[in-house]
Amino acid sequence: MKRTLFLLGTLFAMNAFGAAPDIYHKGWIDLNKNGMKDVYEDSTQPVEKRVDDLLKQMTLDEKIGQLHQNTYDVGAEKIYKDEIERGDMGSFFGGGLIIETPIHRNALQRIAVENTRLGIPLIFGHDAIHGFRTIFPIPLGQACAWEPELFERTQRISARETSAGGNDWTFSPMVDLGRDPRWGRIAEGFGEDPYLGCLYAAANVRGFQGTNVADPESVVACMKHFVGYGAAEGGRDYNTTEISEFTLRNFYLPQFKAGIDAGAWTVMSAFNCLSGFPASANRHVLNDILRDEWHFQGFVVSDYQAVEQLIPHGVAADANEAARIAIKAGVDMEMVSSNYETLPQQIQGGKVSQATVDEAVRRILRVKFIKGLFEKPYTDTTRYKDAYLRPDALVLAEEAAAKSCVLLKNEGDALPISKRAKKIALIGPLGDARAEMLGCWASRGRPQDAVSLATGIRGKLAAGSKLTVTPGCNITNNTADIKGAVSAAKEADVVVLALGEPRDWSGESKSRTHLGVPGRQMELFRAIVATGKPVIVVLFNGRPLTIPEIDTNAAAILEAWQGGVEAGNGVADVLFGDTGPSGRLTISFPYDVGQIPIYYNHYNTGRPGIGEYKGNYVDAPITPLYPFGYGLTYTKFDYGKVQVSPSRLNPGGTLTATAQVKNTGDRAGTEVVQLYIRDIAATAGPRPVRELKGFKKIHLNPGESKKVTFTLSMHDLGYFDPAGHWLVEPGKFQLWICKDSASGKPVDFELQ
Ligand code: NOJ
Repeated sequence: MKRTLFLLGTLFAMNAFGAAPDIYHKGWIDLNKNGMKDVYEDSTQPVEKRVDDLLKQMTLDEKIGQLHQNTYDVGAEKIYKDEIERGDMGSFFGGGLIIETPIHRNALQRIAVENTRLGIPLIFGHDAIHGFRTIFPIPLGQACAWEPELFERTQRISARETSAGGNDWTFSPMVDLGRDPRWGRIAEGFGEDPYLGCLYAAANVRGFQGTNVADPESVVACMKHFVGYGAAEGGRDYNTTEISEFTLRNFYLPQFKAGIDAGAWTVMSAFNCLSGFPASANRHVLNDILRDEWHFQGFVVSDYQAVEQLIPHGVAADANEAARIAIKAGVDMEMVSSNYETLPQQIQGGKVSQATVDEAVRRILRVKFIKGLFEKPYTDTTRYKDAYLRPDALVLAEEAAAKSCVLLKNEGDALPISKRAKKIALIGPLGDARAEMLGCWASRGRPQDAVSLATGIRGKLAAGSKLTVTPGCNITNNTADIKGAVSAAKEADVVVLALGEPRDWSGESKSRTHLGVPGRQMELFRAIVATGKPVIVVLFNGRPLTIPEIDTNAAAILEAWQGGVEAGNGVADVLFGDTGPSGRLTISFPYDVGQIPIYYNHYNTGRPGIGEYKGNYVDAPITPLYPFGYGLTYTKFDYGKVQVSPSRLNPGGTLTATAQVKNTGDRAGTEVVQLYIRDIAATAGPRPVRELKGFKKIHLNPGESKKVTFTLSMHDLGYFDPAGHWLVEPGKFQLWICKDSASGKPVDFELQ
């Protein structure tokens, strides 16, 4: 088809820097032989017809261009002009370190849409993991709210802001199962449980993609990192993973499937070597499972240079081989590296089929059509000006920060703090830290947007109350004024000690071997405890820490994670009891690094229990310090006897499990009532000692009780065999309704 450029008059607009006016033409008018629009340009045509029509018109080079993605920054429209005009680029991502506006994005898009033969739009990606400008708590924290609907709402706001910034696509959610807190990226995921992980994965997709992914405020989601990335040996990022097919199917894959079932249009292939072959060229997972079994219709983007990294991984000798095995395995778009440039030659040499490349291009175009980029290639430049940090976003951010908090200890009702307390000493390096609140993937979040704990506490104090703020020491280095902190503690009625990790100690490439609070923070802790004052510790961190000494000696511990822009207000809400603590851990806290990996849903051993020749340590417990599902409130909940009916379930029937839960304390509170099961004997492989199968978050006033009911069907009792068949087997099961994964008494039932 020949494209005809029509200069439809001269339009004046401010250029990207808001200075002199630019002159540009309005667009191409596309006329085919009959003077009509092409099928691919006609939005009334079905997507597949449009894809077919476009694909037929593309040269091989234009096709290869669609497979290429690069990063962009200020000035990219000059740097990449020629490349885009040649049709060598399908996508950009990142938006530099500072770009919050769609101006550069639109300039790049204009080149693709107006200066190329077919006018295929670029798709722009961005890592909006827990917010764009309004930064919400890290995903691990948000998961601790046990409220996927809340996560859907925070991600919907992220979508609004991310799209206003010029992004059509987000590399989120990260659904990698986390069993090893040494791995820094545990902060980006939802914890150690696949059931909860599935709910959060789906909520994330719904939040970003909305009910119509083509809506300008919706953003295409990306399930990452496919797959097994979180099982890195030694907790060292990018490291090898060895996961049996049985464990892969039952623990690592379900979250991806849940996100895809919720409509996610893209998947990112992982960096790691998975059970003997790199995930970014792993046909088994990318092709056999993702496409053949799950019928995924979207496209796969590699992780950053992961195609090129097939060379150091040791499975490709050069760029040709790397490109060949990646595309054949099912990686459609190559992020940043450009090994796919070798494909035309490899096609000519018969090493790669044209059909393989066509299929990859087809998938990418399909998503571009579905996102509506052909109809609306540009982002509205008026929207970003008032899209960020809107009041509704900040209210939600405060709610999310409060609900992410998990109360780990509360001796002698040290919490909540009375608003009438006369002198409060806030001590610790994280007490007045703003940037640290933003967490590991803060996107466009700015330190000045964030509310520190000191500010949050100030907002709660009654007239006449006084807050002193003393860092006491640095987070990581040797700088300290411990004496000063001790005098502040001595003078106070209430001592709050804000400890933790710096935010850039979690996230990508931030693995740790020691999981205590770093620097001189423990020295500070000991000195403050030695004053004899009850110490309320607030932890800001991106992963479970090993804190047995803090657990022994603090009066109260509130795990606040990294709560985002409203962290200080949200945490203060909980500290002063305006919001009761309602979070529960979605990840186990070990006593010691030597226990890792430690997770509640492990298989039994053939020698369970404690003692000689049992699978225990001689120098540490085998249980964690705080188990999965754990979290206290400002009140007490009692659980009545668990009833199961019928106790022999017929296939096709349903089972009802109930327990009466009563608030026996004198404050209102929120309980997360948890349902676990155990399949006693399974033919294809062992089932975990407990598996979460449901939960209900209930709010009870003092003295109030509620019958909590769960319904299970046969489907809830199944599991995958290593070939991916869903097996539901008759036999005995146990069931718990309880407050966490380590409590409660099981009742038996049977599936007939
Ligand atoms: C590498 C990370 O592993 C991935 O999660 C991220 O989406 C890309 N870089 C792009 O930033």
